[in-house]
Amino acid sequence: MNIKLAVLPGDGIGPEVTSQALKVTEAVCQKYGHELHYDYGICGAHAIDAVGDPYPAQTHQLCMESDAVLFGAVGDPKFDNNPSAKVRPEQGLLAMRKQLGLFANIRPVETFDCLIHKSPLKDDLVRGADFICIRELTGGMYFGPKKEGDDEAYDTNLYSRAEVERILHVAYGYARQRRRHLTVVDKANVLASSRLWRKVAQAIAPQYPDVTTDYMYVDNAAMRMIQEPRFFDVMVTENTFGDILTDEGSCITGSMGLLPSASIGTHTSVFEPIHGSWPQAAGKDIANPLATILSAAMMFEYAFSLKAEAADIRRAVQRSLDENIRTADIQVAGQRPYSTTEVGQWITSQISQKSE
Ligand code: IPM
Ligand code: MN
Repeated sequence: MNIKLAVLPGDGIGPEVTSQALKVTEAVCQKYGHELHYDYGICGAHAIDAVGDPYPAQTHQLCMESDAVLFGAVGDPKFDNNPSAKVRPEQGLLAMRKQLGLFANIRPVETFDCLIHKSPLKDDLVRGADFICIRELTGGMYFGPKKEGDDEAYDTNLYSRAEVERILHVAYGYARQRRRHLTVVDKANVLASSRLWRKVAQAIAPQYPDVTTDYMYVDNAAMRMIQEPRFFDVMVTENTFGDILTDEGSCITGSMGLLPSASIGTHTSVFEPIHGSWPQAAGKDIANPLATILSAAMMFEYAFSLKAEAADIRRAVQRSLDENIRTADIQVAGQRPYSTTEVGQWITSQISQKSE
């Protein structure tokens, strides 16, 4: 297969973790006989400094011409404390989502047995939790009409039937591949937009009689996620609720540094770790590259339907954990922490070795 990738390392630790995932991607392509081409694009704070735009037209062009985008992270503290900054790195992310039509954000919430002790939840509560949150990514309050005045401000949680329908079909598709249980999360007791979600979901559900559909208010879902995370299989929700619930999801497993994500769209798909740019660690070669490497695994599986390749990456990651080849954030006491590069290199050589 010919694979054309856009690599957008972004800010902070983005470049370090992305280069490890790219190394792994190259090793997989070599092993399985895929021809890989890639080009780099700039985005985030980095791009603001270079050209004044966090998602420049040139980067967009590159993404449009690629089969998939491997993305690091964006964000820089110099913008965080300046509410009057005209352009922000995060705007680049939002522009990318909108312009590439990345309407479905897939965030798995998965536990790794060896990291359960890092979870803020009790071991027996969280062990075995395994669900995915499907977050609508190009609608709702993030993109609806807004006003930002000095005395009055608002954001509008606007959704069309078509937007709700297409994300629900994606969610049902995932539910069918998994344990056939879909939870539609909304706030239909208060919000009109949520009532549309629920109406549309109730109309679509009969098309998927093999999937059990249930409906849950978002406040209740936030509670249920910590009380009984194993309840969930696939959860689908609007943009803002999904933003909040996926942060909660990422930390209950104790594996924040390990969680990948995929944003599936109408033009191309983007694969990125969920952990963000961690500027304090930038350039120190200490960041955990596993979330980005696992994002590359998602890329093989979801963008190219190459399941064996994805499984190979996941196995190598699991082996690195088993053998304690870990960065400081997840290393066990008494073992030396490995650097970002060492972990990436170890996983890469595991993948290459097995072809011999
Ligand atoms: C995320 C992030 C973004 C969001 C920010 C950086 C704009 O929090 O991907 O979850 O709110 O969507
Ligand atoms: Mn978020």
